[in-house]
Amino acid sequence: MVRKAVIAGNWKMHMTCAETREFAAAFRPLIADLPAGREVVLAPPFTAIPTLCRHLAGTGVAIAAQNVHWDDQGAYTGMISAPMLVEHGVSHAIVGHSEPRKYYSETDEQINLRARTAQRHGLIPILCVGESLDQREAGETERVIHRQIEQGLEDVDPVRLIVAYEPIWAIGTGKTCAADEANRVCGLIRGWVGNPEVTVQYGGSVNTATIDELMAQSDIDGVLVGGASLKAESFARIANYQVPARV
Ligand code: 13P
Repeated sequence: MVRKAVIAGNWKMHMTCAETREFAAAFRPLIADLPAGREVVLAPPFTAIPTLCRHLAGTGVAIAAQNVHWDDQGAYTGMISAPMLVEHGVSHAIVGHSEPRKYYSETDEQINLRARTAQRHGLIPILCVGESLDQREAGETERVIHRQIEQGLEDVDPVRLIVAYEPIWAIGTGKTCAADEANRVCGLIRGWVGNPEVTVQYGGSVNTATIDELMAQSDIDGVLVGGASLKAESFARIANYQVPARV
């Protein structure tokens, strides 16, 4: 079984619609000849979703939301529901990213509700998990991630799912986790999810210099890229990663 590689970009709170149009125009030709078996996903801010969908139509690039609410509608000022995303052609939703966990105190229970709601509406959740530097240094990496997986995936279908291992200390810091260590943790995650075919990504300072080694690892099926996904040239190089032929 060869698991599909999923190369995803998370734009976070970057990119106006005008910048999105520019990105799409530059990105299109650069991914025209992607090798088979690779999927590219981009998560723009909510406001740029319609623009990105329109300008990447026909390329096969899937569009993700950066979060999704657990209710379909209601008095939740500032939030976006799954039906609102589906209406625009969104197919994936990031849930449990360390930034909303940190800045908006999202809990594993809420993240679980988001993942379940996403699946109920046909969206593929990209569940992010990962330890802080303190937790890593205290030897708690496995315990923390196991809990995030167990609670985050309660009653979630392990087939229509992507999990992204994003060590918090590697996000936006320029410190990529060593490829063999990222591979080790991704392998543990796969075991805990309980579906050997689940796509497990690595995220945290992925760039054009580190992508090939990361994608050569046996348990890393893709990447979730922040900063390096904001430029068409660097994200296209990442999507066009090169791995040594396996014999
Ligand atoms: P960076 O690639 O900028 O470190 O961000 C990673 C990330 O948080 C993707 O979701």
